[in-house]
Amino acid sequence: MTHVSPAQKPETPKPEAPEKPEKQASKALYGGTSSRRITVRDIAAAKERGEKWPMLTAYDAMTASVFDEAGIPVMLVGDSMGNCHLGYESTVPVTMDEIALLSAAVVRGTKRALVVGDLPFGSYQEGAVQALRNATRLVKEAGVGAVKLEGGERSAHQIELLVRSGIPVMAHIGLTPQSVNAYGGYPVQGRGEEAAQQLLRDAKAVQDAGAFAVVLELVPAELAAEVTRSLQIATIGIGAGVECDAQVLVWTDMAGLTGGRMPRFVKQYARMREVLGDAARAFAEDVVGGAYPAEEHSFH
Ligand code: KIV
Repeated sequence: MTHVSPAQKPETPKPEAPEKPEKQASKALYGGTSSRRITVRDIAAAKERGEKWPMLTAYDAMTASVFDEAGIPVMLVGDSMGNCHLGYESTVPVTMDEIALLSAAVVRGTKRALVVGDLPFGSYQEGAVQALRNATRLVKEAGVGAVKLEGGERSAHQIELLVRSGIPVMAHIGLTPQSVNAYGGYPVQGRGEEAAQQLLRDAKAVQDAGAFAVVLELVPAELAAEVTRSLQIATIGIGAGVECDAQVLVWTDMAGLTGGRMPRFVKQYARMREVLGDAARAFAEDVVGGAYPAEEHSFH
């Protein structure tokens, strides 16, 4: 073996450090490789990177597991369960017991998604202490990683106490469906100078109160873009144009399971109502015609 002192050693050019694109990808909220549960810190980091991300509602463990496997990073157990899951006319009748039960199911059905439990109508309007009691229940009983509540300036006290108590809060401004009886419907919000200024104040108020993200519902796209530019926290649009940091849809709308007329902002990515109806009819015809169960489905 020849001994070569370091001084004599021929200089071999150092290969350039290989780029690690997979390192970058592992951080992405959607499409990333990390399998640990998403936290509000990941949401803040995505805003800094300028990365867009998707959110869906979920109301049961099985559907939630499908979305989790599809990589949806944030799931909202929304009070839209009133219309989409429980058969109510609106979100107003939804109770804490219903949200707690279904939130626990969604948490059980997911491994990676940040699960956000919605505070239903009447569970936080009395004040910050009531909000804390009910939000604590969702965190302890259901295991959610964050809660959502409606209102801008008017809900800032509640948000502040929850955040100070260690509960991450997603705010919700623009159209707030729990106020359907006051609106008399579901009108687009923030139209006109005064309403736009109020929306900007609401957005600033929830950020200052400590919310980690804010849903903007039924807001003109230009105004939502202005809010998104002016906030350090993530904006999540629904009927609020393409400039928001994230987009949310009610899953039954997204998958084409909801019947009747869809709001204009909904894009349907499947025709689940037709698929399920066809499956049910095929099963019924097999039963009536004696084709099911066949030999291979029977025990002897
Ligand atoms: O309850 C819900 O599903 C919601 C979303 C539409 C944002 O609030």
